[in-house]
Amino acid sequence: RLGGIVPESIYSCSMLTALRLSGNHFHGEISPRIGNLKHLSFLSLGSNSFTNIMKALHALKSCGNISTLLIGRNFMNEAMPQDETIDGFQNLQFLVMHHCSLTGRIPTWLSTFTSLKVLLLSSNQLTGPIPSWINSLNHLFGLDVSNNSLIGKIPMILMEMPMLTSDKPAIYFDPSLLDLPIYVDDANAKLQYRMGSAWPKGLNLGKNKFTGMIPQEIGHLEALTYLNLSFNNFYGEIPQSICKLTNLQGLDLSNNHLTGAVPVPLENLHFLS
Ligand SMILES: *[C@@H]1O[C@H](CO)[C@@H](O)[C@H](O)[C@H]1NC(C)=O
Ligand SMILES: *[C@@H]1O[C@H](CO)[C@@H](O)[C@H](O)[C@H]1NC(C)=O
Ligand SMILES: *[C@@H]1O[C@H](CO)[C@@H](O)[C@H](O)[C@H]1NC(C)=O
Repeated sequence: RLGGIVPESIYSCSMLTALRLSGNHFHGEISPRIGNLKHLSFLSLGSNSFTNIMKALHALKSCGNISTLLIGRNFMNEAMPQDETIDGFQNLQFLVMHHCSLTGRIPTWLSTFTSLKVLLLSSNQLTGPIPSWINSLNHLFGLDVSNNSLIGKIPMILMEMPMLTSDKPAIYFDPSLLDLPIYVDDANAKLQYRMGSAWPKGLNLGKNKFTGMIPQEIGHLEALTYLNLSFNNFYGEIPQSICKLTNLQGLDLSNNHLTGAVPVPLENLHFLS
């Protein structure tokens, strides 16, 4: 139940590598002095009442070594910054910016975050399509944009995500531990991740305004363990190629306008629950 403004003195701890302030009642803006924390690699500010996401991101880019940044459930109803000068996050691997009701498009500056492995933008009010640069995020294996107002078809480039198109052992067996665990408050469960590689290889486009057919090429995403396309306007048949996703543990195609039969070979997906 800590509240008020984060004390400035904390930014004098210049050797700090991990800081979790989440789940308190902090408010106000993130001080530019946070940029003094050059060794900071894990920062969790989630579930407070911080404001001014633009200023926060500009302050944080000076940190330089951030690899996990969890800032969800703050910055309520602000505009997603579209400012191209948000850069310097080359080491960022896990970015959680969900439940902020941010408006605007998926910003182009995210394309410069080339180490990203997991990107959670769910439960904002984002509009526009999935950007065409998405497959340039060579390390991305977890993307959750559910519960927004995104439009358009499933872009073909999404079927070419390097980390999802083959069964890359590296992402399964990378044993490196996160500085601190990441906690995820799912609708169904409270989860804790201690290893980045334990994160589901997942694509969640659920609860948006996507349309068109589910592309045959979905079968290229062989590493997927979780696919959620529910609550959209997809039509046409479920492609047979979905049965090539032999690592799938979770599949949700509900609440669309799909027609035809459920492909019989789905019964061969033994991990599917
Ligand atoms: C940056 O973070 C990594 C761990 O993510 C660590 O191994 C490395 O020593 C850090 N570098 C600096 C300059 O603190
Ligand atoms: C969906 O997002 C809105 C904010 O845009 C939020 O108010 C609502 O709680 C979210 N729904 C779920 C199920 O998380
Ligand atoms: C898929 O996403 C929808 C909307 O966000 C959610 O309600 C549903 O629980 C998800 N399905 C699964 C199997 O996780």
